[in-house]
Amino acid sequence: MFLLKTEQRSKLDESDDAAFYCYPRFVYHVDNGFIRKLKQLYSQKLQSDSRILDLMSSWVSHLPETIQFSHVEGHGMNQEELAKNPRLDHYFIQNLNQQTSLPLEDQSFDAVLITASIQYIQYPETVFREIARVLKPNGIAIISFSNRMFYQKAISVWRDSSEKARLEIVRSYFKAIEGFGEPEIIAKTFILGGDPFYVVMANRL
Ligand SMILES: C[S@@+](CC[C@H](N)C(=O)[O-])C[C@H]1O[C@@H](n2cnc3c(N)ncnc32)[C@H](O)[C@@H]1O
Repeated sequence: MFLLKTEQRSKLDESDDAAFYCYPRFVYHVDNGFIRKLKQLYSQKLQSDSRILDLMSSWVSHLPETIQFSHVEGHGMNQEELAKNPRLDHYFIQNLNQQTSLPLEDQSFDAVLITASIQYIQYPETVFREIARVLKPNGIAIISFSNRMFYQKAISVWRDSSEKARLEIVRSYFKAIEGFGEPEIIAKTFILGGDPFYVVMANRL
């Protein structure tokens, strides 16, 4: 089943993502308030000694320092960024818009995380099917995002949607495939500024 129309998957910059990510960006993609809230959420949802897959990651880890995991697998697009990430036990580089199959065993992770990056995935249905495949029963997928983006690399449906509608877009990714329970949504916005904090998460059945 195809959830998005072809034009909704398009990006303003259709050149190979590998070229865009070929040099490292040692920057913060969300503010401290967002990171604090995400760490709090991870402290509630992630178990010590569990296996974590941090998809679309970079040099910064949002995992709470107080929790020891048995394995943290990282994935991203830039080797120098991933090499600097202090929490990764291992990582791989893969363009998910060209190759959606993950080189990982079935039911091998307790949690899959994607932060500030979901807007760049052009084939979310197949990527979410892969996330479901690698999650253990009752494992959790946590997709968090704010309102920042590399505009030219975000898919058109994301660029053209309100922040509220983006929550529904991510919810629809979970609903598009079998294997996840009802997604839970968190939305925290701030009148006095600060990055809005949005999360859509669901457990593997
Ligand atoms: C804004 S950064 C977010 C990095 C990190 N998750 C964080 O919260 O700081 C976007 C990330 O999306 C990933 N990404 C973008 N396009 C991708 C693609 N086509 N395939 C795989 N990963 C991609 C890269 O790892 C890139 O670092």
